[in-house]
Amino acid sequence: MKRRKFIKTCCYSAIGIPLGATLLQSCEAIYYATTTKDANRLVVKKSEFWYTKKDKRVNRSFVLVKTESMEFPICLYKIDVDVYSASLLHCTHRGCELNVGGGIYGCPCHGSEFSVTGKVLEGPADRDLKTFKTEIDHENIFILRA
Ligand code: FES
Repeated sequence: MKRRKFIKTCCYSAIGIPLGATLLQSCEAIYYATTTKDANRLVVKKSEFWYTKKDKRVNRSFVLVKTESMEFPICLYKIDVDVYSASLLHCTHRGCELNVGGGIYGCPCHGSEFSVTGKVLEGPADRDLKTFKTEIDHENIFILRA
């Protein structure tokens, strides 16, 4: 391989690996979890965070939760083993519904960005998202709404 071709190949590889990883992360399918209500809590089974494809277990990093009475969904994000963050996908700037992808919540209206724990990363929004405490038991995740 000639020097010029080698350098080009290395550059494309260096660009391609992070780009591919970002695209894979941002291409994670949107999935609405089956949710039940329990007093002031929404209940999501931990098993909603995985599915089987070709005999292999595939993990989801997040699921969306929405009931008939909710105008905006809650994103339940798996931060770590048995550690979840629940954020309302309602932009604090002017109220648009946020998109989930690439490990952040992005607003399609004016470009604000929020971390998966609901913190403002990029304006024009200047307030964090509404978040909810979560609790777990052996098989469920509880989102506390009160
Ligand atoms: S409504 Fe989200 S940035 Fe303006």
